[in-house]
This record gives sequence, structure tokens and C-alpha cells, in this order.
Amino acid sequence: MTSNVVLIGYMGCGKSTVGKQLAAILSKSFVDLDNYIEVKERNTISNIFKEKGEVYFRKIERKYLLECLGELEDSIISLGGGTPCFGDNMQIIINDTKSTSIYLRTGVATLSQRLFAERSGRPLIAHTNSIEELSEFIGKHLFERNTYYSQAEYIETTDDKAISTIVKEIVDKMH
Ligand code: S3P
Repeated sequence: MTSNVVLIGYMGCGKSTVGKQLAAILSKSFVDLDNYIEVKERNTISNIFKEKGEVYFRKIERKYLLECLGELEDSIISLGGGTPCFGDNMQIIINDTKSTSIYLRTGVATLSQRLFAERSGRPLIAHTNSIEELSEFIGKHLFERNTYYSQAEYIETTDDKAISTIVKEIVDKMH
């Protein structure tokens, strides 16, 4: 197994929850890129979007992605939903021989249900006013992003699965 495991997938697919359990089982550290950015920038992701805009966010997101991949060892790294979809980030992730990438694939209906109540804290979906509007947005967005996500070395479908099942299936896949 490689030193690091990189979890990718849409907002709400369970990257952090799965990542924490995976880290515990594999005795690795857990690092959430959004959280890493917030600590380094001393600001929340929401505020960075509001104050400096998405282009600035994507620039620093890339910088911290490179920093994490370069410096971390024996870690489960959970990326932001958009991280693999900008610039050559996905290529960098795939080319990193120290890491294995895993796409947590979750369907639109599950994502919409999970994200509706907490959308106000998520800059890209905060504007949606109903679950139907959110579903339509996610459907289109996921379609665009799938090109990037599906380049991951492993794909784990998560719909209707307990976290423990997802974690076990990932461990089995990687051995
Ligand atoms: C984003 C996902 C978020 C965060 C930012 C942008 C995206 O991360 O990086 O709000 O473009 O999908 P999570 O997937 O961890 O929520």
C-alpha cells in the first residue's frame, strides 16, 4: 500500500467521515485539505470565497495540495470537492507515486438530501432555494466533474452503504 491515500469526490460524499475511519483502521493520520487551508489562511473557506473570490481560492487550494502531497507521509488526505477539477491538479494526484487516489462516488439524490440542510455554509450551493433546484445543480455539476473524478485509481460507490462497509471495501481493494 502507498504511503498516502487521497480521497476525492463531490461535497457530501463522505470524504471526511470515511477518511477518519480509514485513518484509524490503517493507523495513518487524517488530513482534510479544506481544514488545512483554513488553518494556514486563518480564515474559513466560506469567507475566503466571499472576500477574495473563487479564483483566489483555487490558486491557494493548488498551492496547499502540492504542499500536502509533498510533505505528508502515512496520511489519508481528504480533498475538497473541486480540488481535482482545476488546472492539472488531477494529473498531479495521479502522478504522485506516494499516493493512491480513491473516488467516493455518490448519486445525485443522496448528495442533494445530505447537502440541502447545510448548503448555507457551502459557497457553491448556498444560492439554491429548494431541493429540486439543488438536485438540478448537483446533477449538472457532477456530470462536468465526473471526467476528473473517474480518473482516480479506485472508485468506491457509496450509496446505501454503511461507513464501515465503505471503509472495509476500500481496504480490501487496496490490498
Ligand atoms: C468545493 C468543495 C468544498 C470546498 C469549497 C469548494 C467544491 O469542499 O473546498 O467549498 O468546489 O466542490 P468539500 O467537498 O470538502 O465540502
